[in-house]
Amino acid sequence: MSLPRPVLVVDFGAQYAQLIARRVREARVYSEIVPHTMPVADMLAKNPAAIILSGGPSSVYEPGAPRVDVGLFETGVPVFGICYGFQAMALALGGTVAHTGQREFGGTRLTARPEAGVLLRDLPGELPVWMSHGDCVTEAPTGFAVTAGSAGAPVAAFEDTAGRRAGVQFHPEVAHTEHGQTVLTRFLYDIAGIEPTWTTGNMIEEQVAAVRARVGDKQVICGLSGGVDSAVAAALVHRAVGDQLTCVFVDHGLLRAGEAEQVEKDYVAATGIRLKVVDASETFLAALAGVTDPEAKRKIIGREFIRAFEGAARELAAHGDVEFLVQGTLYPDVVESGGGSGTANIKSHHNVGGLPEDLQFHLVEPLRTLFKDEVRAVGAQLGLPEAMVWRHPFPGPGLAIRIIGEVTRERLALLRAADLIARTELTAAGLDREVWQFPVVLLADVRSVGVQGDGRTYGHPVVLRPVASEDAMTADWSRLPYDLIARISTRITNEVPEVNRVVLDVTSKPPGTIEWE
Ligand code: XMP
Repeated sequence: MSLPRPVLVVDFGAQYAQLIARRVREARVYSEIVPHTMPVADMLAKNPAAIILSGGPSSVYEPGAPRVDVGLFETGVPVFGICYGFQAMALALGGTVAHTGQREFGGTRLTARPEAGVLLRDLPGELPVWMSHGDCVTEAPTGFAVTAGSAGAPVAAFEDTAGRRAGVQFHPEVAHTEHGQTVLTRFLYDIAGIEPTWTTGNMIEEQVAAVRARVGDKQVICGLSGGVDSAVAAALVHRAVGDQLTCVFVDHGLLRAGEAEQVEKDYVAATGIRLKVVDASETFLAALAGVTDPEAKRKIIGREFIRAFEGAARELAAHGDVEFLVQGTLYPDVVESGGGSGTANIKSHHNVGGLPEDLQFHLVEPLRTLFKDEVRAVGAQLGLPEAMVWRHPFPGPGLAIRIIGEVTRERLALLRAADLIARTELTAAGLDREVWQFPVVLLADVRSVGVQGDGRTYGHPVVLRPVASEDAMTADWSRLPYDLIARISTRITNEVPEVNRVVLDVTSKPPGTIEWE
């Protein structure tokens, strides 16, 4: 079994390639990202169904700007150029790109000639699109029909349907471009002739077969963190090899209310997975005593985690032939660490890469071709508890980095109570999926005066940090309804002793990070 023929998204170095690859998959076509330095022969070796040239640096005339190998267009593989890729394509095929020095950036009106081709067929003659370019194509290559233009881009879309090639100056992958997904699917289905058959369901069957073949009759272990990635990876591997898999859950005592139970009870009930729980909360708390520096906290937690995991792994290895370790590595981790097929990228938080020499395992990474939303879809199909599948990302060091100051049992209890209120109210308002993450932070070293009943209080503030994001690289603060924020605030100050103030963080990332620490 193997993956279907991919659409290759050639990455020219800007941030667009991942989003394009995701949109292609949303169109139910399998995609992979490749670097622009990949020789055409290597691309062909992947037997691509089509190639998409992504956005990139601002000008094809910049010194050292990546060019497109003209050989690409002689392979017969369908090609779609976007933004920079569109200009590079125009230049390579003999069109004209004017070095104007003028920028067209942001929302722009596109004047389309829908009837002149396939790409924009049946779309309105005026379209709001997202642009980001300096140079512009002034003349399409011979054999190409021009189907749109804008104020700053005389040629904003072209196509040669017989040659199965097309391109657009705007970004069809971004939400600001209306009908962007239609434009992309017109290329994929109608110009490149690809059938929309990719689903995460196909992927489950393929991975189950692949894992079975690879693991044979050996034993496998997997560390569960409570998060969706490791939970889904383990469930997939369990489907492939059943009880040859043992999961290890190190409870570091820094999870939120109900999360340890979710792993120990609901997850096991849903999957039938064999689970070894290591209750290491005392050890973690003791090691964190007196520590306030966030980096020091992270180091201690990393170290203790490896110790606890290693102990459990050793015990399991003593009883059988454990050769494999499951990791929930996702496609963005693979791409960001520099390659689709390079060595495994191991997430730093649960850094089992730190295991000693005599405990080295081969990695099984059944999710390394998937994006987060696809992982969730797989989790749902495998029957995992909904709360787990839709759990917001949560840092490995857990609540320890959301307590600003020393971590103590009492402070953890305070923060857990406040966090549970915020999460419960968000869910009740039906806004879980609008929000990427919703850290609640305890400023344990700050006290301020308040008043409650007849008395003066001297309590701690908590910070609400709801954010919207696509990938945690950038984020904006979520504009939650005021009445929801009011409910959360009232409940926290009423129900959590020692908290007398609730404040809202209204900082985007950058400059703020998502976590406070
Ligand atoms: P920041 O706070 O840098 O976080 O904006 C970006 C994303 O990473 C998460 N995060 C972590 N995840 N281990 C993790 O697995 C960690 O040590 C860690 N620190 C931050 C954070 O929650 C956000 O999603």
